[in-house]
Amino acid sequence: MWNPEIYLRFADERGRPFHDLVGRVKAETPRVVEDLGCGPGNLTETLAVRWPDAQIRGVDSSPEMIAAAQTPSALATYAVGDVRAHVPGAEVDVIVTNAMLQWVEGADEILASWVKPGRWIAAQMPANHDAPAHVLLRELCGTAKWSAKLGFMADKRSVGDAVHYARLLRTAGCDHVDTWETLYVHQLPVTGAHHPVLTWLSGTALRPVRAALSDDDFLAYCAELQPRLAEAYPAHDGVVDFPFLRVFAVGYRSS
Ligand SMILES: C[S@@+](CC[C@H](N)C(=O)[O-])C[C@H]1O[C@@H](n2cnc3c(N)ncnc32)[C@H](O)[C@@H]1O
Repeated sequence: MWNPEIYLRFADERGRPFHDLVGRVKAETPRVVEDLGCGPGNLTETLAVRWPDAQIRGVDSSPEMIAAAQTPSALATYAVGDVRAHVPGAEVDVIVTNAMLQWVEGADEILASWVKPGRWIAAQMPANHDAPAHVLLRELCGTAKWSAKLGFMADKRSVGDAVHYARLLRTAGCDHVDTWETLYVHQLPVTGAHHPVLTWLSGTALRPVRAALSDDDFLAYCAELQPRLAEAYPAHDGVVDFPFLRVFAVGYRSS
């Protein structure tokens, strides 16, 4: 289950890549813009400001996220839906997907299937698989104490690099392709008892761990993970520098 409140604790840090991504989409007057895996809608709403004449639609598989997005003043329409079953209609001129495809099996095939003449595709995925935070999280899952319940978290790489996505979009027929990687250094303030990287992870990468454990086991797991994270990401003057690599892919097929 996704928790919009926990996820939005780092709204600014999580939002910046979305704006960097959408800034490279050159569509001027799209009819329909879809944000797939739209989460709580705070970023989807900005698409209505960028393209005021377009119909903006957000789709997400989490009912909790869609409930958070459906505010009375929403500028977009929102629906619960799984991207694996979602087929964007011919009227969709822009597809944006931010920090979602890394959760989905067969993401490459899905991304390629969205390419159509006259349509822009813009995707961003975290590429932090080899960063200490994610390595430590997986290593702990694989220890004798936790592997029976958390062995499924073993090494699984679902995201490619920028060259991978350039080739994928060209092969799918895009004649404009723009892919890149950015390393953001998030400066996370130390507040409260939890290490801020643990708090960050609890909104995303730790969700499958949380779902697999009882309340007590999850507390015990976090108690073991926290000192490892604190060693890997020490605080300086009350701030933890948290490098985070992301990969971006923008494509357009003209005909
Ligand atoms: C890290 S959040 C990103 C939310 C938003 N795009 C943003 O940038 O803030 C990932 C979102 O993808 C959604 N998601 C994961 N798998 C999905 C799927 N198969 N179909 C649709 N949405 C999915 C989750 O429910 C979650 O809201």
